[in-house]
This record gives sequence, C-alpha cells and structure tokens, in this order.
Amino acid sequence: MADPRPVHRVLTGITTSGTPHLGNYVGAMRPAILASRQAAVESFYFLADYHALIHGFDPERVHRSTLEIAATWLAAGLNPDRVTFYRQSDVPEVLELAWLLACVAGKGLLNRAHAYKAAVERNSAAGAEPDTGVSVGLFLYPLLMAADILLFKANSVPVGRDQVQHIEIARDLAGRFNHRYGNHLILPEAAIDESAAVLPGLDGRKMSKSYGNSIPLFASAAELKKLVFSVVTDSRAPGERKESEGSALFALYRAFATADEIEAMRSAFAGGIGWGDAKQTVFERIEATLASMRRIYQSLIAEPARIEIRLQDGAAKARSVAAPFLRDLRHAVGLRKLA
Ligand code: TRP
Repeated sequence: MADPRPVHRVLTGITTSGTPHLGNYVGAMRPAILASRQAAVESFYFLADYHALIHGFDPERVHRSTLEIAATWLAAGLNPDRVTFYRQSDVPEVLELAWLLACVAGKGLLNRAHAYKAAVERNSAAGAEPDTGVSVGLFLYPLLMAADILLFKANSVPVGRDQVQHIEIARDLAGRFNHRYGNHLILPEAAIDESAAVLPGLDGRKMSKSYGNSIPLFASAAELKKLVFSVVTDSRAPGERKESEGSALFALYRAFATADEIEAMRSAFAGGIGWGDAKQTVFERIEATLASMRRIYQSLIAEPARIEIRLQDGAAKARSVAAPFLRDLRHAVGLRKLA
C-alpha cells in the first residue's frame, strides 16, 4: 500500500528545446510558481531534457535551452528551497521506471498517442511507410512522461490541453502496473488551469514556438518594444472605437495588468485610443513587470555555476524520493537479491 500523505503533490516539466516566451511564462510558469507557495502543496518542477532529445539532434541547443529555462524559473521567482527543482537526466531512476512501465504497456495504447498517430497519418498521406522518420523515442514519449509523473507519486499535473492524453496514458499504465504487482503507483490527474491566460502571439493565434509568432520572455527592452508594436490590429484610425474582446493587443495587456488597469484600457479602447498609443502603454506595462526579472535572468545566465548548484541540490532531493520508491518497485516485480 502507498503511505497516506497529508500533502498534495504537484509535478510538471518543460521540454528543454527552446527559449521561453511570454506565453510560457503567463500560461505555465507564473501559475506554477504561485501554486508552489501554498502550504499544503509539494511541488516538483523539472527540466525535461531527455524529452528534448526526441525533437532533434542539436546538442548545443538542448544545452543552451536547459540553461535558459532553468534561469527563467529562478528569475521568475521559483524558490528552490520550497520546491524540488531538478533536471530530468540527473535522475536516472526515471529511465528505469520507464522500462518497468514499458513491460506493462500495450503497444496499441502507444499507437494511439496523438504525436505518433499524426506522424503515421502524415506518412500515409505522403504514400510513405507508416513509420518513416519516426524514432522509437518519439513512440515512447508518453511512456517516458508517465515515468516522470509516477516516480514521484504526483497527484496533479498542470499541463496544457494538448498534454491531457499523456496524463490519461500515465493513469492507464499505473492501473495496469498496480493490477499486476499490487497497489504501488498513484493515478495522477491532469490540472488544466482555466484561469491561466492563453496568450495570443504576434499574429493573434495562440503564442507558440511552432507558429513562429512568439515574443521571447527576455528579449531586450528595445526588441520587446519592436515586437509589441508588430502585434496585429485592425485598421481603425485614432478616434474610432476599438473592440477589446478578440484583440490580441488587449489580451497581452490583460495578462500583465491589474484589474483597474484593465478597466482603464477597456475604456480607452471604447474611447478610440490610437493603436500606436495603445501599443506604447502595453509595452511599458510588460516592461515594468519584466525589467527586474530580466536583470536577474541575465546575471544567472552569466554564471551558470550558480544554477548548476541549485540543480545538483534539486537532483539530490529528487533522488532521495525516487531511489527508495524504485527499490520497492524493483522488489515488487521480482528484481531481488538472492540472499
Ligand atoms: N510533454 C511536456 C511538454 O512538452 C513536458 C513534460 C515531460 C511533462 N514530462 C512531463 C509535463 C511530466 C508534465 C509532466 O509540454
């Protein structure tokens, strides 16, 4: 039986394959940091660098992204003394659990995972073999993610909607494992934060690295200004009433402003503020929030050793949880000393 635990465990990871943008901060990191300050919550936040290997073969990029994402968490106010903040590849127990799960996972379950299915569909549409260009790593992506979650007995996993199927797969695998070996694994829930803003990008679609419409979180002030000024608007002239609902610029402002500021901007829109003036206000508001974070970020990036120390502490904390649990699991499946 799993021990009763009074606290609620929250776990989430970010793949280290890019540079954090405003949408990552507003939609995932900021709410995660706020949640980690609650007393009854134990948080595990990690850099998913094993996952990053699935997406490409650029070692420098994985390494740089790991630095940038780690520095971002710390600059954004994550307190590593309160949470367990670690790099996935510092916790090899993850891979061992992945193997135990692989041996209970039906292959058909993984055949149905969205990313793999989409790759197969693209191939058949192009008249190619179903698995052309698909690595076993891509196929096992949800299984590795399940291991991340189940190893730490996470109750709740904050993710975007696109990841909900992966949490379902983790539950499914936990259930199968428990059915076979006894009740060891906790079934996690996906936590979709409805209040977290989904930020639009420069073109008005959801801000996403893959759309190429994002604003890097720690662009220089000049670059930030240039990008805010390039957010799409309609062609209404100064003096004409503007719609705040559906405006990408307004949504961007709303993610950073106080309730009073938002109301004032809503009136300014209705009163016909010119797009240039509105953009200047939005830029200044975002800059006011990011300027001090950016300074911390840059000082951390300049001294990676300070980040590395934090990650090593985090890895030790993570492994002090993972290693004994994995010993129990090894015992449960029959990997035991002879005497
Ligand atoms: N798949 C997640 C993403 O790309 C990253 C991730 C890896 C993750 N392991 C996880 C998220 C475990 C939550 C829990 O966004």
